[in-house]
This record gives sequence, C-alpha cells and structure tokens, in this order.
Amino acid sequence: MTDHPTPPSLPHAVRSTPWHTDTALAHLGRTSATAALSVNPPLVRASTTVFPTLAEFKDSYRGTVFEAPRYGRSGTSTQFELQAAMAQLCGAQSCIALPSGLAAIAAVLGAHARPGGQILVQEGVYGPAQVLCDQVLAPLQCRIDYFDSVDSLRELWTDQACLVFIEVPSSLTMRMLDAAAVSEFAASRGVPVACDSTWGTPLFFDAHALGIALSIHAATKYINGHSDVVLGLVTGSYEALASTRAWCDRQGSHVSADACALVLRGMRTLGLRMPRHHASALAVAAWLQAQPQIERVLFPALPSDPGHALWRRQFSGAPGPFTVELAPCSEAAFEAFINALQLFGLGTSWGGFESLVMPAIAHHLRALPVQPDAGRLVRLHIGLEAPGDLCDDLAAALAHIGHGAGPSSP
Ligand SMILES: Cc1ncc(COP(=O)(O)O)c(C=O)c1O
Repeated sequence: MTDHPTPPSLPHAVRSTPWHTDTALAHLGRTSATAALSVNPPLVRASTTVFPTLAEFKDSYRGTVFEAPRYGRSGTSTQFELQAAMAQLCGAQSCIALPSGLAAIAAVLGAHARPGGQILVQEGVYGPAQVLCDQVLAPLQCRIDYFDSVDSLRELWTDQACLVFIEVPSSLTMRMLDAAAVSEFAASRGVPVACDSTWGTPLFFDAHALGIALSIHAATKYINGHSDVVLGLVTGSYEALASTRAWCDRQGSHVSADACALVLRGMRTLGLRMPRHHASALAVAAWLQAQPQIERVLFPALPSDPGHALWRRQFSGAPGPFTVELAPCSEAAFEAFINALQLFGLGTSWGGFESLVMPAIAHHLRALPVQPDAGRLVRLHIGLEAPGDLCDDLAAALAHIGHGAGPSSP
C-alpha cells in the first residue's frame, strides 16, 4: 500500500492536563456540563446576558472579553467551553473563536497591520488570505512581501516588519517550510509568527512548540470534521492574542453558540479520525503515484516529496488533502475524469468524513510563480471511506484520460 510504514503518532499528552490526548478529547470543554447534569455542556444562545447584582455586572467588563459572559456578542458558556478545550489541546493559554477560518486569518492580519508596517507572507498561503493582503491591507499602506524560504524571508525583512504569516504545507502546492526556523528568525527580531495550522490540526502539528505565537485553525475542516459548520479558532498566549482579541471586539465579531457546540462535538472524535485520514491518504497517494495518468503527487508524507524530511521533523501525521498533477490531457478528458468520480464530491472544502475533488485553478491568486504544471493540478481530499473503494473509483475515472489505470492495490 505504501512505502511509509510509520503509523501516525498522536501527541502523547495534552500539556496542560495529565491526560493522554484521547482522554483529553473526551473530557475537555465540559466544565459547565456538571451544573446541567448532562454529559455535554449546555447550548446557551444569548443576545442578552443578565447579572444578579451590579457588582457582577461591573466585574464582567473587567474580565477578558470573549472569555466570560458580558454581552451576547462576546459569547456564552458554549463558546467559552470550546475555546478552553482548544487552548488546552494546543498547549496554549488562550483561544478565540471567529466566524470562519478566513475571518480568523483576517483578524490576526488586520490586528497587526499598520500603515508603513510590513507583513511577510509565505508564498502559497490559502488564496483568499492572499487576496486580503493584496486588496485590503496593501491599499492601506501596509507593505506585503511574499517569501518562499527562510533565506528569502531574511532578504525581504525590513525594520518595519510587524508580522510573519505562514501556512504549512502551503495550500494546493503543498510546499513545506521550516516553521521552527521562521519562528526563530522572527523571534530574534521581536516579531510574532502567525501560522495557518489547519492542515496539521493540533494532533499532527504542535505549532506553539515550534515557536509559532499565533496558531490559526479553520475548525470548519478536521476539528469539526462533519462538513456542516464554518468556524475559525486562534490559539496563543494572552499577550500574543491581545491585539487580535481587541480587533475582534472592535469589529463586532461574533460566533453562534450552535456552531461552537457542533465543533465541540466533532472534536471528540478527532483522535479517531486523524490516524484514519493519515493511513488512507498515504495509501491512495502511493497508489496514484504508480498510475500512468499521474505526473506526480504533491504530498509531503510521501518519501519522494522534497519536503518529506522536514514534514517528518515537524509533523506527527498527515491528513487527507493532497494535490496531484495529471499527465497533460485534453479539456474534454479532464472534464470526463472529474465527472466520472462517484465517491469524490466536487467541492472546494476538505476535512470532513467524505472524499472530495477540486480542480486546483487558483494560480491567479498566487504572488510568485508556482511549480511548472504542464498537466492539470487536482486537489483530492481522502475521507473516511475504505481506501480500496476510493482507488477503484479513481481508476475508473482515470480511464477517461487514457493509458489505462493499473489495478487498485489497497
Ligand atoms: C488552509 C485553509 N485555511 C483557511 C481556510 C478558510 O476556512 P473557512 O472556510 O472556515 O473560512 C481554508 C478553507 O478552505 C483552508 O483551506
């Protein structure tokens, strides 16, 4: 099935608890359940919070916004439970929930941007984040520079640097970047690094241990895992999160209690789902690599990938999305391939229980030229289906491209 036999190892323990990760996932975020005599924390929807005494009302404005009841917009106990669970899972002091993963990226970037400042952005980050940089932040006179290596980060650095934003591996192109080296360099100049850690999840990627100050997760993907919620989470120390928290407060950011309850429910099974995504993605990627219609597979978990050694150092597993470059084919054959897939839904998301396919057509969203791709790039998300069924489905669809696919092995 694959020449990478190492099973994914989950982090042994959640640092702020004495528990193994699996135990923590079952027990975190349930503080308010006890009073409700229920297993799960109550779903508290509120636009208005009422206080028994004036002293408690006043106290609510002394505490940290988005961490305790104040006014409906700043959250209810359901949101605080999710944030506390996520912070503990990530070994962070604090967490803020935002309406989407992109809103979380926008809040972090927006909170650090300033006229005359410089934000250094890794080439290949999630396309809409790049659009935000180019079309919203740059016109506000915040300089945006794109880098693709630690060396180019050093070269582009100016005294006005106020934030470094990375995503590992980069969206679609799946390029690895040494997150620890980036963090070390930025920290030596007193500048925080924010990282889109959605791909690795807290289970496969310990962002804060690598020195990343602000770790951003589109909980829409694996943390929820069921393709029915959009939500973002940012973790970090209170100090690192202070400007983002203030930005969210000023912007009127709000997330629904229902979304938080669903994400908390999805999180309970993260420890079961991620090793399965890892094993299936590796099996399908290795099978695809051997097919004549596939030029190459961009997936750092494959030993043939240029980022493999770095991935092994900085990740403990690989989840389901990766990119394949098809051998050059006609538009009609490409369309026939996509349309023939039965088990892969045609959609732009990933991280749910189901497999997905998406033509990677985002070149115009990228600042620097991406790798040459004479063939077409396709992003696959490998869900929780049996990998053999997925390979059979891919084999039948690849036959539309010609050359005849080999037998499915897993
Ligand atoms: C790597 C990455 N980060 C962030 C996002 C944005 O998440 P959301 O859809 O919750 O805004 C996505 C969405 O696809 C993504 O792929």
